[in-house]
Amino acid sequence: MKEKSVGILGLGSYVPAKIMTNNEIEQMVDTSDEWIIERTGIRERRIAAANEATSDLATAAALRALTDANVKPEEIDLIIVATVTPDMSFPSVACLVQKNIGAMHAAAFDLTAVCSGFIYGLIVGTQFIRTGTYRKVLVIGAEALSKITDWTDRNTSIIFGDGAGAAVLGETAEGYGIVGVDLGADGTGGDLLKVPAGGSRLSTTAETIEQRLHFISMNGAEVFKFAVKVMGESATKALANAALTKKDIDCLVPHQANIRIIQSAAKRLGLPMDKVVVNVEKYGNTSAASVPIALDEAVQSGRIKNDDVVVLVGFGGGLTWGASVIKWKK
Ligand code: ACO
Repeated sequence: MKEKSVGILGLGSYVPAKIMTNNEIEQMVDTSDEWIIERTGIRERRIAAANEATSDLATAAALRALTDANVKPEEIDLIIVATVTPDMSFPSVACLVQKNIGAMHAAAFDLTAVCSGFIYGLIVGTQFIRTGTYRKVLVIGAEALSKITDWTDRNTSIIFGDGAGAAVLGETAEGYGIVGVDLGADGTGGDLLKVPAGGSRLSTTAETIEQRLHFISMNGAEVFKFAVKVMGESATKALANAALTKKDIDCLVPHQANIRIIQSAAKRLGLPMDKVVVNVEKYGNTSAASVPIALDEAVQSGRIKNDDVVVLVGFGGGLTWGASVIKWKK
């Protein structure tokens, strides 16, 4: 049987209402607005309310994507949520979203690939449609990182933010949609970025809480070096998988971690910055949500048009990375 072409039929994103500026972070740790802007490009980020969990953000983004795609919840066959900040260990965020949106015919699961999660989810979801197993798949990247951020650590508290982005996948015209992919992982780098406690290795005790081990710990300099190298490499591999080269890129949508990482990746790909989507100044690093939020904003603003070659690329804890080439058609 001939494989189907799979594309994004609709997109949606959602960020919490509360804006936290760099000046507010200055009140919590020894840093400055100037330092944060110069070293990261971030000016502000969104913070989920005390009663707002990842599934709430994911649900809002999902409903917008369904409307944009003109697809009903009951048409969805599978929901994949990429997140490292689930509401709880289980049920999965995907099951909570399924209930919230009334997607009663959908299978549902969460996927963990940290900031590469949306790209992993997109590629996994694509396979089910390509083979004819499913017709419509909802892929969501959603995070409430503020809930696992140590607000006394200036290394991490300046970077992260909350949000969600969603895409409805379905069959598209031949030659369009997801035409090239690359996924990778290097577990030997797992210690560079992790939440040490709260799992089955170090379960929650008064001591682990006292030592602040339930928050993100990060070796920023090493993650930076890894990110710069892998973003260019992964994008190039995904392009080769699509029989394209970096010259063919019309628009790059990179994981929004740090403006300097994005600029270095663009340089390695020989791309001028006007072909690169950047919104890190508004949201910081929203992990699995960053790529779909940036993609949604780029499509809504008319920056991405039919027939464009769009490259999504990301990296994250694990370590993980991934890229996807999309020949755009809405
Ligand atoms: N404010 C002021 N000064 C600071 C701050 C801060 N927030 N943080 C560090 N400094 C100081 C350091 O102490 C150091 O001072 P020293 O020279 O006197 O020792 C100096 O600034 C430079 O520190 P570096 O750590 O070298 O700063 P760098 O330019 O590397 O920026 C940063 C740090 C922003 C964390 C950067 O390394 C980075 O962005 N790394 C990548 C992180 C990332 O992308 N993580 C997410 C991965 S995705 C995922 O899976 C969640």
